[in-house]
Amino acid sequence: MQSKALNSGTRTICIASGKGGVGKTTLSINLATAIAEQGKSVLYFDADMGLANAQIGLGVDSVGNIGHVMNGLVRLDDIIVKSSFGVDLVAGASGVEALASVGRVESARIIQAFSGLSNRYDVLIVDCAAGISSSVLSFLQACEERVVVGTAELSSIADAYALLKVMVNDYRLDDFIYLPNQVDNEQQGVRLFESMDNVVGNFLNASLHYLGSVSKDPMVNLSWQKSTPMLRLAPSAVIASNFRQVAKALLARPAATQPSGAVQFFMGQT
Ligand SMILES: Nc1ncnc2c1ncn2[C@@H]1O[C@H](COP(=O)(O)OP(=O)(O)OP(=O)(O)O)[C@@H](O)[C@H]1O
Ligand SMILES: [Mg+2]
Repeated sequence: MQSKALNSGTRTICIASGKGGVGKTTLSINLATAIAEQGKSVLYFDADMGLANAQIGLGVDSVGNIGHVMNGLVRLDDIIVKSSFGVDLVAGASGVEALASVGRVESARIIQAFSGLSNRYDVLIVDCAAGISSSVLSFLQACEERVVVGTAELSSIADAYALLKVMVNDYRLDDFIYLPNQVDNEQQGVRLFESMDNVVGNFLNASLHYLGSVSKDPMVNLSWQKSTPMLRLAPSAVIASNFRQVAKALLARPAATQPSGAVQFFMGQT
């Protein structure tokens, strides 16, 4: 039997990475689409406050974005837009320098703004900016599931470790999913996961969860050009089954019962 979720029925999943450009948004879009295909209602929060681009990948044209909510111009509810893929979007701000460095207090305000959407969605996906800014760490703390995406590039491995280190040592978080992306095959994904898990075990005394990996596919660029998730563009491709497997494995995980001590998305709702 699954334990009762802390934060109402909405599962909250945060996608982060140390290094930029490793595939967080591509993963978020396809995970959201895969979860929607399972009949669940999904809200996608583009939490990249500086260079938001989920609108492009999901093919939606949003007039409002989270920046307008923060400025008090509109309510969060007013800026939610529907995509053609069963995923609703809260767009992030792009090209607004002041928003690129949102601090802890403003992040907490954003998280609390989601409480107004009480129980409307089965799943919330939070697609973060790269790195270890305080907004990213706040959003990671505020979600039940923390997914760190990385590739086999040395700089991605080093930066993913740096992010995990901050979360474990400074934020006392554990329970991370490490998701290798752009792998040549499943074996490479497993090896990448195992080497990160070993380092994290040895130096941080923490462990990582493996839910699968995502293969490298040159069609991903086309899916961005066409504003169509890979799941729709090439539903029988290996990468599409990778995304579906990760989505299934994520939803099969038991809901969190221990608060992280920080403000949570949808906290306290019944
Ligand atoms: N599995 C994949 N196979 C091939 N190319 C990929 C894959 N995943 C992502 N890419 C490519 O990598 C680039 C970066 O992807 P994406 O924007 O999803 O990364 P990101 O981590 O969200 O970046 P940022 O840190 O800027 O937010 C894009 O050009 C995308 O097409
Ligand atoms: Mg991104």
